[in-house]
Order: sequence, then structure tokens, then C-alpha cells
Amino acid sequence: MKIAVAGIGYVGLSMAVLLAQHNEVMAIDILKEKVAMINSKKSPIEDFLITEYLTMMKLKLKATSDRVKAYKGADYVIIAAPTDYDIERECFNTEAIEAIVEDVVEINPQAVMVIKSTVPMGYTKALKEKYNIDNIIFSPEFLREGKALYDNLYPSRIIIGEKSERAEEFAALLKQGAKKSNIQTIYMDSTEAEAVKLYANAYLAMRVAYFNEIDTYAELMGLDTKAIIDGVGLDPRIGSYYNNPSFGYGGYCLPKDTSQLKALYRNIPNNLISAILDSNTTRKRHITRMIMDKSPKVAGIYRLSMKADSDNFRASAIQDIIGGLKDSNIEAVIYEPSLTEDTFAGLRVIKDIDDFKKASDIIVTNRISQEIQDVAHKVYTRDLYNRD
Ligand SMILES: NC(=O)c1ccc[n+]([C@@H]2O[C@H](COP(=O)([O-])OP(=O)(O)OC[C@H]3O[C@@H](n4cnc5c(N)ncnc54)[C@H](O)[C@@H]3O)[C@@H](O)[C@H]2O)c1
Repeated sequence: MKIAVAGIGYVGLSMAVLLAQHNEVMAIDILKEKVAMINSKKSPIEDFLITEYLTMMKLKLKATSDRVKAYKGADYVIIAAPTDYDIERECFNTEAIEAIVEDVVEINPQAVMVIKSTVPMGYTKALKEKYNIDNIIFSPEFLREGKALYDNLYPSRIIIGEKSERAEEFAALLKQGAKKSNIQTIYMDSTEAEAVKLYANAYLAMRVAYFNEIDTYAELMGLDTKAIIDGVGLDPRIGSYYNNPSFGYGGYCLPKDTSQLKALYRNIPNNLISAILDSNTTRKRHITRMIMDKSPKVAGIYRLSMKADSDNFRASAIQDIIGGLKDSNIEAVIYEPSLTEDTFAGLRVIKDIDDFKKASDIIVTNRISQEIQDVAHKVYTRDLYNRD
């Protein structure tokens, strides 16, 4: 098969590498730096397996920023473009998807397009009507950043938003590249497949919010959160996983996907969906208040990312904590080695870890790290299990 993958991000790159084991894959991105990196076998994202596969495996993978080169002759075009949430329109911004669809319709109208980006419910159906096309399928993506390729080699499930021969053919392509056997595969209509993605992420956000609310109570009442969560989780219906308290859920997907789901519930009776977002806002306010109550002269923000192994800080909870501290005129400094700038959000970035430790009389971190164990007495975190 000849496959084009549009968007060299977490989703697009892991798809491209997975499929390039057995197919001719051309990845396309508007960012020339990313294209150049792929062509010199370097990963633009931090992902151990992607780096390993790019350098060690025989992949039929090339990258380009030339649309004709990418789409011409492709059997499938996988769309992995960003869908940021537009607060004013209360909807994902799907312009990048539509730009790709328009190019494919013009250059190679026979290709089957597969949307891997997260979209609102009903989007694929509306897109078919808008462009008067039928050659487009939605298939949700469930990977975790940092483990993007792993999650496609060992997928939790494959969901395809169409019941058809070509849907089965696409699922077979994903399975051919995977290492796991007997992958549960479900075919359904596109709107239900879109719903699966949004409801799965909203559930994860709700779970984070729930364990965080346990922690807020325990923190204020002087109880041992870990004892409570350990005890709660041992019920097999609940489970001892994805239960680590944090400053709030964040990252690229959970905040925008819960916002989108809430907007879709505009005229639908609900309490829980809206409460997930409210709970996260309350949690971040609570964390900010706990830091302020310690009256630090200088609060040190250790890392901006959500997770210890993350290489980006898109919509991380700590950024809202920073906003809260700034509003309260608490002086804060940041340690974030991936930043080259001297300031972030108006705060001073300290490049040297020892200088940072000295300058901060409290060190605020979402996740504990070995690097700050020597100043454990200064650290404020809610991390209990050192994961997620
Ligand atoms: N990151 C995740 O963990 C994750 C997981 C599941 C689903 N998703 C969804 O997948 C989509 C992509 O997410 P991501 O994290 O991979 O995004 P990303 O920002 O890492 O990558 C998107 C890439 O698309 C490129 N792009 C933008 N417009 C383009 C165009 N017209 N043609 C070609 N390339 C274009 C961008 O330059 C960028 O490199 C989003 O809808 C997201 O919600 C993300």
C-alpha cells in the first residue's frame, strides 16, 4: 500500500512509523524542520521507540512538505492534524483537517482518507456532506505522549467508524504493523466512533478529578491520602491505576476534549460532564491557595510539563497555578530545561538547577523527581505514586 500521513506530530509520526514497516509511507507536514528531521531519521518528539525504529528498523518512510508528492498515488491518507479548542466558537478548530481534505480531493480523489485527529461528534458526517464525498473514515487514536508508538504496537483496541470492506482493510493495516495479537476491533458508524474518543477522554479526566478531590479533602482534614486511595483502589471494580493525585488534569487532549464534550451537551441535560471541568478549575485554585498559605518569598516552579517523561507542556495544570500565583503577586521562578528563553509567562527562568534550588524557598512540582530529592524539605507536590 502507498500511504500518506498528514501531520508529523505524536499521532501522525507513530502511525507513519507503524505503517512504514510494511507499506510505502510518505509523511507530510507544513513544518519543514520536522520533514528534514524525519528524512535524517531523527524524531521531532521524545519517544524512545520511535527513535529506535527510525534508526534501527528498515522502514519505508519518507517525509515531504510537497502536497502533490505526498498525496498523488496514495491508497490511504491518514489525517493527524491538530484540533485545538476555539474558546469563542466553543468548538474544535478543524481548519487544518479541512485544508488536507481539500488538497486530497483536488490531487487524489480516489484515496481513502482516515481521520485520526479528535473531532466533535457528527463531524465526519458533516464533512462528507460539505465536500460531497464518501471516501473518508474516522478512526479514533488512543495513544499516550511519550509512548505513542508503543500504544500503536500494543493497542488497547482498534475502533473504525465505518462498517465496510475498506474499514476492515484499514484495520488490517494497523494490525499488520502491531506486535500484539488478538486486538479487539470494533466497527461502528462515524459519529459513535467520534463519541468513543471524547467519552474515553472525559472518563479519564473525571477519574483524575475524582482522585484529586479525595486528595483535597485529605489534605485539608489532615488525612493520609495514600491510605485512602490504596484502600479504595483494591476494589477490582475501581482498580489501583490512574489514581495518582496531581495539580489537575492537563496536557493537549483532556482539557480540550472535555471542553468540547461540555459544549456538545449545551442543550442536553447533564451535571457530570460540566462538573469535570469545574472540579479541575477548583483543584487548581486549591493548589494555588495551599502554596500561598505557605507565604513563600520566592516560589520555584520545577518543570512545566504534566508528566515526568513528557517533552512538552501544552495546557499543563502548572501553568494555571503560575497564573494564580502571579495574580496574588507571589514572586515565582521557573526551572524548565527545555526552555531556551530567559522568561516564561513573565517569570524568570533559572537555567542552573542549583541556582534554582537556592533561589526558591518552596519548590512546587506536579511530579517528584530524583533531581530535587536533596531539597525534599522545600518541595510541595501531591504526587504519591511517581507515575502518570
Ligand atoms: N497527542 C496525543 O496524545 C493525542 C492522542 C490521541 C489523539 N490526538 C489527537 O490527534 C490530533 C493530533 O494531535 P498531535 O498531538 O499529534 O498534534 P501535534 O501538534 O503534535 O502534531 C500535528 C502536526 O500537524 C501539522 N499540521 C498542521 N496543519 C497541517 C496541514 N495542513 N498539513 C500537514 N500537516 C499539518 C503540524 O505542523 C504538526 O506537526 C489532535 O486532534 C489530537 O487531539 C492526540
